[in-house]
Amino acid sequence: MLLVTGVSGGLGRLVAERLAGRDDVVLGTRAGLPGTRLVDFDEAATLVDAFAGVDTLLMISAGYGEDDTVVARHEAAISAAERAGVGHLVYTSISGDGDHLSYALAHRWTERRLRRSTARWTILRNGLYAELLALLAAPDADRRVTGPLGEGRLAAVAREDLAEIAAAVAAAPAAHAGRTYELVGERPLGGPELARALGATYAPGTLAEARTALAASGAEPFRIPMLTGTYSAIAHGFLDGSGVRSDLRAVLDREPRDPLDAFVEAVRKG
Ligand SMILES: NC(=O)c1ccc[n+]([C@@H]2O[C@H](COP(=O)([O-])OP(=O)(O)OC[C@H]3O[C@@H](n4cnc5c(N)ncnc54)[C@H](OP(=O)(O)O)[C@@H]3O)[C@@H](O)[C@H]2O)c1
Repeated sequence: MLLVTGVSGGLGRLVAERLAGRDDVVLGTRAGLPGTRLVDFDEAATLVDAFAGVDTLLMISAGYGEDDTVVARHEAAISAAERAGVGHLVYTSISGDGDHLSYALAHRWTERRLRRSTARWTILRNGLYAELLALLAAPDADRRVTGPLGEGRLAAVAREDLAEIAAAVAAAPAAHAGRTYELVGERPLGGPELARALGATYAPGTLAEARTALAASGAEPFRIPMLTGTYSAIAHGFLDGSGVRSDLRAVLDREPRDPLDAFVEAVRKG
């Protein structure tokens, strides 16, 4: 049996759609949705039972929080899976070129933990979503994209491509045991191109302006370095795809979706 965690989230929901109708798949979430099993990494004591009868666990990272919170969640999930006799863990991590991002630490910690797990494992090092760009490069009321992307570009990936890979790998994990896949996009997107696709103008602000605006928006403290650090890594050329050799097309086994289309669609959906 395959259990997918986090199915109320953007990625988990798309994975669940791809596995719909299979009687060997159980969907897990904190959200208490009909037909799902309760899976909350913050409730460590419940997890061994939650993972009962599971052969493969697709563990969607629970990445929002300070490092100690996220690491504790992932440790709880992995050790419970081991105790429950789960044979294979598939984990959604962050791409190898993301090491400058503040949230990379918890992903890398989790990768290390998986590598010394008693279970088999597969690591999906997801690139940043095209849909995340819809937040980072959202146009303002004057149709200006002011996110501080500088002259940098992001090798973004459509989230649905990552969901398709996660579903396929988790549904037949044996061939992927011990593998780490780099899943960054093939077409890096920069501010001018993003703005043009929206009929907007590109007028990037500074990182300091973005930090001030985020703080004023009432964002939780950990989100501020998360987002400003993402802007900085893009602006300074760390996420344009040149730093990793992508497995995206090979693992997807088809042409990746155009990330610019996914970006425009995500902006229009709001
Ligand atoms: N590559 C990227 O661009 C990118 C962008 C944003 C985030 N991420 C990472 O990838 C993950 C999935 O992305 P997403 O777009 O689906 O994020 P999302 O829509 O914000 O969903 C958050 C996810 O975190 C899970 N989660 C939070 N707290 C949890 C807990 N205590 N126990 C178990 N699960 C918990 C949620 O599961 P429930 O269904 O249980 O709520 C949900 O799957 C994120 O959590 C984050 O770590 C990657």
